[in-house]
Amino acid sequence: MERTVAVIGAGLIGRAWSMVFARAGWRVRIHDRDASQLRAAQTFVAASLDEQAKFGLVADPDSAREQIAYIATIEEAVAGAGWVQENLPETLEAKREAFMLLDRLASSDAVLASSTSAIPASRFTETLSGRARCLVAHPVNPPHLVPVVELCGAPWTSPAVIERARRVYADVGQVPIIVRRELDGFILNRLQGALLAEAMRLVGEGYVSPQDLDKTVCEGLGLRWSFMGPLATIELNAPGGVADYCMRYSGFYRRLAAAPAAPEVWDAANAAKVAAAIGVPANASELDARMRWRDRRLMALAAHKREQSESETT
Ligand SMILES: NC(=O)c1ccc[n+]([C@@H]2O[C@H](COP(=O)([O-])OP(=O)(O)OC[C@H]3O[C@@H](n4cnc5c(N)ncnc54)[C@H](O)[C@@H]3O)[C@@H](O)[C@H]2O)c1
Repeated sequence: MERTVAVIGAGLIGRAWSMVFARAGWRVRIHDRDASQLRAAQTFVAASLDEQAKFGLVADPDSAREQIAYIATIEEAVAGAGWVQENLPETLEAKREAFMLLDRLASSDAVLASSTSAIPASRFTETLSGRARCLVAHPVNPPHLVPVVELCGAPWTSPAVIERARRVYADVGQVPIIVRRELDGFILNRLQGALLAEAMRLVGEGYVSPQDLDKTVCEGLGLRWSFMGPLATIELNAPGGVADYCMRYSGFYRRLAAAPAAPEVWDAANAAKVAAAIGVPANASELDARMRWRDRRLMALAAHKREQSESETT
């Protein structure tokens, strides 16, 4: 049971989690109610582990592959697992149903973690007898290449469970962060939401092309952000650190915060304007190729970051 995880749902996120745990030597029991999704997950995992090995991100892809069992029933997947990672569709109903079932099926000392992007655990665990062992462990897509995972309990989640989660995700190579109180969007999507709303406004109102907006991030802000966060960044942007930065530069930021992008930037009319500025939408095979390209870039970046952190600690 120790180091055995049941991964429930084998879509984009479930299949990626299965590799995270398997690479770290955990036994993985992945389940989906749709047999074709299980088969697709198996094909994806096989190819991705080989690719990751080329970047030095997995030492032995064959043994990682052998750690993963593809299971047709949820009962069988959960039996004997000490950790459960739920990855079903993002609806309250799906989460409620799944957690009711998981709380009944899982061994009493197993932890039940949800990958939900935006639904706080208190909304789908309140009535469960095992509610103290439930939490959100929200990854970033794709979790096998982007390591941060947001841990957020409901008010009744045991602090010992949060601490156990912190150790487990660190043990499998992820970077856990603790969200101290439940809030809409947790941390990551609130940050992403602020940036995206402004991007939708700037492109929608014609201040910049979508291509130049994206360059501003990937050839500008994002370069620093891949190894130091925005707060560590501003600490270095004024001789007296963060307080000095706020004194010098907050005039503009205050004006911006007083007139934030309006909710209408998300309306269909503005979305259509932004989409038209981007150009002809990619077809399914182009999107697939772009996803594979993104994953290879992320693998190269992960390899670079690993090499840097090893050379800095030796
Ligand atoms: N895709 C992302 O960018 C992303 C990022 C972080 C978190 N998440 C969260 O992860 C979760 C899963 O998202 P996804 O993108 O992998 O979705 P997905 O649609 O790719 O996968 C969902 C899978 O669940 C299966 N499923 C549905 N009902 C089931 C049931 N009752 N029993 C067993 N299997 C069932 C489906 O067949 C499907 O394979 C969601 O809560 C989502 O918010 C997604």
